[in-house]
Amino acid sequence: MTYRVIQWATGGVGKAAIQGIVAHPELELVGAWVHSEEKAGRDVGEIVGGDPLGVAATTDTEALLGLDADCVHYAPVMPNPPELMRILESGKNVVTPLSWFYRGSRDWSELEALCQKAGVTLHGTGIHPGGITERFPLMVSALSRAVTHVRAEEWSDLRTYGAPQVVSDLMLFGKTPEEARKSPMVQFMGGGFCQSIDMVADTLGFALDDEKRTTHEVSAALEPIDSPIGVIEPGRVAAQRYTWEGLVRGEPVITVRTNWFMGEKGFESGWSFGSEGERFEVEVKGDPSSLVTFKGWHPESVEAGLERNPGIVATAIHGVSAIPAVCRAEPGIKSYLDLPLVAGRAARELSRSGRA
Ligand SMILES: NC(=O)c1ccc[n+]([C@@H]2O[C@H](COP(=O)([O-])OP(=O)(O)OC[C@H]3O[C@@H](n4cnc5c(N)ncnc54)[C@H](OP(=O)(O)O)[C@@H]3O)[C@@H](O)[C@H]2O)c1
Repeated sequence: MTYRVIQWATGGVGKAAIQGIVAHPELELVGAWVHSEEKAGRDVGEIVGGDPLGVAATTDTEALLGLDADCVHYAPVMPNPPELMRILESGKNVVTPLSWFYRGSRDWSELEALCQKAGVTLHGTGIHPGGITERFPLMVSALSRAVTHVRAEEWSDLRTYGAPQVVSDLMLFGKTPEEARKSPMVQFMGGGFCQSIDMVADTLGFALDDEKRTTHEVSAALEPIDSPIGVIEPGRVAAQRYTWEGLVRGEPVITVRTNWFMGEKGFESGWSFGSEGERFEVEVKGDPSSLVTFKGWHPESVEAGLERNPGIVATAIHGVSAIPAVCRAEPGIKSYLDLPLVAGRAARELSRSGRA
């Protein structure tokens, strides 16, 4: 069985998803939505820097929704709920790294009813959130008795993230500390990360307090720092640390953190990646405790990251890998807790079918 897939947006995630869809033995790329007029009409293969694929990119939403397709991999820069609802309404399953990781006690009844009516499934995935934040900690937690604390943490050089608009206008790097503290990212990202905290808490059975704790710390450059958004002058924000915590009686039991720095060191706070460098960590404290470090999701250099960032590729492929299971699932909003194990696929030259 081959599932027909439309890619929605061709930024870093979208381009890697297209490569993933094309390489996947159970998937076929049948369409692509683009935001930018310059990309409209171009062959999608060329947009991702490869051979033509015979699929033209389009800005025409209705034409795409009229296509016979099983699933949309939805990866625009920000979620557009009415647009997402139109996609679901048209009878297409949706996989996305933008949100909808786990409902918990949120009121998603309108979206759930729409999925039921249209007979489709919506699944949120990614790496952070969508992978190291909840899926992998839950997997590791099965090896421990009496879990007392779960932590998912990222250390990344943001100079390698090829979305300068997001880095400068939303994350507010390069601005004054006062300006950066007002970043809408705290709210936007918290929406996703707190879903992951709820998934871990509900599954492990933590009796979380009603309120989660959010901490947003910023630190300024000591020296001028060259970055894709221009030179960050001393005194301007060059490092940010976002922390979300699930608490029991005021004490953290689940900690989710991103350490996003413009470079490795040179900040007023003294923060650095330490000797282990860029990485993702999952830690489960219990009997016994586990600490898992994920390497390989950071590029070799700033230039390589701006070209193709492995963390962004991992985000995209986690979604692509889930598409067959999502297409086969019962209608509704489904998290990892509802789907069978999602796995990758063998390289083409090593696979049974010869076309992986
Ligand atoms: N959960 C996770 O772990 C995770 C990890 C990474 C990223 N993400 C999320 O995934 C999404 C895509 O990330 P990305 O790195 O691919 O971002 P990106 O490189 O900035 O690309 C986003 C794409 O969105 C389209 N776009 C630009 N302006 C738009 C607008 N005003 N309205 C609608 N679409 C617009 C463009 O598509 P065209 O170029 O096709 O015109 C752009 O290339 C983001 O929301 C990001 O937060 C999640």
